[in-house]
Amino acid sequence: MHTINSNLSKKIITWYENNKRNLPWRIYSNPKKKLYYRLLSEFMLQQTQVKTVIPYFERFTSKIKTLKRLSTTSERKVLKLWEGLGYYRRAKNLIKTARIIVKKNNSVLPKTLENIKKLPGIGEYTGNILLALIYNQPRLGIDGNVKRILSRIFFKHEKKLNFKEIIDKNKKKLFNNNRNADLAEAIMEFGALICKPQDPTCKICPIKNNCKFFRSGKSIKFTKLNKTTKRNYNIFCYLNKKREIGLKKNSTLGFLKEYNLPIIKERSNKKNLKNWNFLCNYKNSISNKKLNIDLYYKFSKKIPKGLNWFSLYRNEEFIPTFTKKIFKRVENLY
Ligand code: ADE
Repeated sequence: MHTINSNLSKKIITWYENNKRNLPWRIYSNPKKKLYYRLLSEFMLQQTQVKTVIPYFERFTSKIKTLKRLSTTSERKVLKLWEGLGYYRRAKNLIKTARIIVKKNNSVLPKTLENIKKLPGIGEYTGNILLALIYNQPRLGIDGNVKRILSRIFFKHEKKLNFKEIIDKNKKKLFNNNRNADLAEAIMEFGALICKPQDPTCKICPIKNNCKFFRSGKSIKFTKLNKTTKRNYNIFCYLNKKREIGLKKNSTLGFLKEYNLPIIKERSNKKNLKNWNFLCNYKNSISNKKLNIDLYYKFSKKIPKGLNWFSLYRNEEFIPTFTKKIFKRVENLY
């Protein structure tokens, strides 16, 4: 059995009170603003880092001030405010969810996990977090932070732990002071600022004595609890004389289209590279995945089905940052 120490929550909450960042969605003047800020920020924070979200959140809330207002705002306007954040399905789901809460639910967030998960864009993780933050329910969103912290406390590989079960079995100890909203947020903050993936600051950690990883005396450099996986990819760019590149259209979002990388293939062998010219290599990291990408190009009048020609100078639409980087690189070929 994985037993959590009963003073763990208190220590993390105390640390949080003294060290938390003044993030804009943590500051609100009334419960209505709280619901709006929490809902919006949790949608924005799905797949996106805190520091990226802050300016978007501030711009969004300065233009659309309430959840009620959001529920009557056009999709076009919301997508425009979302432009650059990526994963635009979140924005579309956010409007749908805002409309349901305001119009069908009298501006009240559902109170059970079962019902909150019926809202578009709210799954297990966001549902748990919102119920904890808004209703102080004894829940945690099991994200990368929670998994990493628990895997260090027990000094076990994440794959060997059943996090849902650990939280359930230790419910009484974890949620023993009725500060459940603070705990849910404190754990995320603790993971971001102290128990960091690469170089955790164990020296100043308030729970180090409860942590088997710290007590083992090992350094994170020599102890990869979670191995990074390496992946090799090839990216193939079709280019034409008009300075256009073949891009995949991922999804149509009303009047806007979300475009994504050109053809990307996991590298298995060196075959099929005939007629392709190597341009450069990128090394990129996404969480614990290390990506090693070779970029190839060829000039061609035709493109395969599923790709659309797209001007290298059209910068304003919904193009992921990495794709834009590729634009810049292939521009040099002309
Ligand atoms: N990630 C997701 N939700 C968060 C929050 N409320 N604070 C910090 N990081 C988060």
